[in-house]
Amino acid sequence: MKNDIILRTENIRKEFSGFVALKDINLEVSKGEFKAIIGPNGSGKTTLINILSGALKCTEGRVYLRGEDITGLSQHLIARKGMVRTDQYTQTFPNLTVYENLWIAAQSKSKLNLFKDYKSDRDIQKRVDEVLKLISLDHKPELIVSRCSYGEQRRVQIGMALLTDPDVLLMDEPTSGISPKEREDIINLLSRLSGEKTLVVVEHNVDVVLRLADEIVVLNEGKIIAEGEPDEVINMPVIKEIYVGGLAKWGV
Ligand SMILES: Nc1ncnc2c1ncn2[C@@H]1O[C@H](COP(=O)(O)OP(=O)(O)O)[C@@H](O)[C@H]1O
Ligand SMILES: [Mg+2]
Repeated sequence: MKNDIILRTENIRKEFSGFVALKDINLEVSKGEFKAIIGPNGSGKTTLINILSGALKCTEGRVYLRGEDITGLSQHLIARKGMVRTDQYTQTFPNLTVYENLWIAAQSKSKLNLFKDYKSDRDIQKRVDEVLKLISLDHKPELIVSRCSYGEQRRVQIGMALLTDPDVLLMDEPTSGISPKEREDIINLLSRLSGEKTLVVVEHNVDVVLRLADEIVVLNEGKIIAEGEPDEVINMPVIKEIYVGGLAKWGV
């Protein structure tokens, strides 16, 4: 699995006015892999997603996407290169319908690639319909996004990201802040995406991680303290120590 690396970081370090939020982060994500990132509150998970997506610049280190050095590029450029972030920070158009939001996302992709990958309106429509089904909103395409539940809005955000045909999807706590029923909907969606897309997902819900992830990376105080397959990692003494030390610390 390790021979087809799509995303790689080399010694990422991030300081905020002298405070070291991340250090020595060496990450390797294979094509099609579901990589989960877990760790206590404040361990640097969101900072890492911010650096990968281009929302933040790292202090030191490099980020490579398909072998290309993308360190320090803007979020917009990184998205164009195929790595897209989809979480509560993703913008939707709240006054437009679910369908319109998806259509706009699909069309913007088509425009970006005008000469390479031109799509007719009919192609776009077909793709939007597929994604509507995938995010289980095909029964309410005409709903105005601001009237959608949080869980539905999150699925619209994921749908919009999917319509840009990304190679890598980055998600920061996709199941947080929504009802248990809606959380299940997101988990089902993640499960459908796994295997098809490369996913890097920050998730503190251990159940989700155990069910879906191919590999887990555990951050603690800005460093990777463990990584490997879920069963392997969850049984490591260092993890048990932290978990037993207080589940609340993990936001579980
Ligand atoms: N913009 C910032 N300025 C200063 N400190 C920050 C900033 N963003 C995050 N931090 C600090 O970096 C550490 C890691 O934060 P974060 O990545 O949000 O952790 P997590 O997502 O794992 O809870 C925390 O101590 C946090 O206070
Ligand atoms: Mg966070």
